[in-house]
Amino acid sequence: MIKKYLDKVILGDCLESLSNIETGSVDMCFADPPFNLEKKYTSYKDQRPDKEYIEWCKLWLDELVRVTKPTGSIFVHNIPRWLTYYATILNESAYFRHWIAWDAMSNPLGKTLLPAHYGVLFYTKQPRDFKFYEVRAPHKKCRVCDNYLKDYGGKKDQMHPFGALVSDVWTDIHRIRHNVRRDEHPCQLPIHLLERIVLMSTDPGDIVLDPFLGTGTTAIAAKALGRHYIGLELDPMYKTIAEDKLAKVGPSIYNSYYVSYYLGKLQSIRDVDAAQLFPPQLTSTEKKLIKANGNGNGDGNGHKPKEKTLEPIDFVVQLTLLQKKATYVAKSKDT
Ligand SMILES: C[S@@+](CC[C@H](N)C(=O)[O-])C[C@H]1O[C@@H](n2cnc3c(N)ncnc32)[C@H](O)[C@@H]1O
Repeated sequence: MIKKYLDKVILGDCLESLSNIETGSVDMCFADPPFNLEKKYTSYKDQRPDKEYIEWCKLWLDELVRVTKPTGSIFVHNIPRWLTYYATILNESAYFRHWIAWDAMSNPLGKTLLPAHYGVLFYTKQPRDFKFYEVRAPHKKCRVCDNYLKDYGGKKDQMHPFGALVSDVWTDIHRIRHNVRRDEHPCQLPIHLLERIVLMSTDPGDIVLDPFLGTGTTAIAAKALGRHYIGLELDPMYKTIAEDKLAKVGPSIYNSYYVSYYLGKLQSIRDVDAAQLFPPQLTSTEKKLIKANGNGNGDGNGHKPKEKTLEPIDFVVQLTLLQKKATYVAKSKDT
């Protein structure tokens, strides 16, 4: 049955479609349900009494856990208020990993703290031996002066040459604000948000399912990263938009590794892949050792090497270090 649904957008109610999908057959589920905030969808009425909304959410959350493979994971996006109920439901059948705070600007509501994040709950089906890959994102820089926003002090040479490991607070991905990048849909997510989640939790060839596909964001991310997708959507117009966009999606690759781009720049990359693409820079101690052996004439800024107080480095080690640096420089030029 799963083959029938693979790489397709299925029109209809997600509960009905999910009931046709085998238990333990999907690697990752991502759900971005209607938030019960009276958004203007074409087919769905986004306004139910709270109790009815939560009961409905429990039905599809339980189904998502059921269809997920033992090594797989479940991600759910919503406002914090509803996520507190989701967590209670999911804690019964899956294992909590993270509450990812996705930073997003919003308007003051009065008598509340300014709501400044959406949440993405991350659960796995089993407590260990689940798929997970650490992801890196570029070091944050000032848009005006191009300096690093974080003060790395005297440890700049220990910085990863591409970027920092992603934490559970995501401030580098913005909601779609420009109408030219937006479909006729009230709450479309950015593709690179989903690409990060797909890179984190699946391998190429895996199956990603979204029960509320909208205009196709999750399926597009999955296809671009060489994964299979199953998209479920109630509305025929959103299904058509998703299918039209999916037909144009090509692989998102850098030097034969799947990566996520935003506006032509690398946005997310798995740590294991970054280790191949961006070898570590030489540390200051390594640089000093090279200089100490007579191979350095200063640091290019007019600073002469200090008097040699270090033991000369072994010639073979020195050669390896220089080769490592040459490879790094060559790779940086490709970027
Ligand atoms: C918040 S939107 C998802 C947007 C999507 N993440 C995107 O980036 O385009 C929720 C979607 O769920 C759909 N929907 C609502 N009820 C549904 C149901 N019972 N089964 C399938 N889809 C449903 C709505 O039509 C809407 O497109």
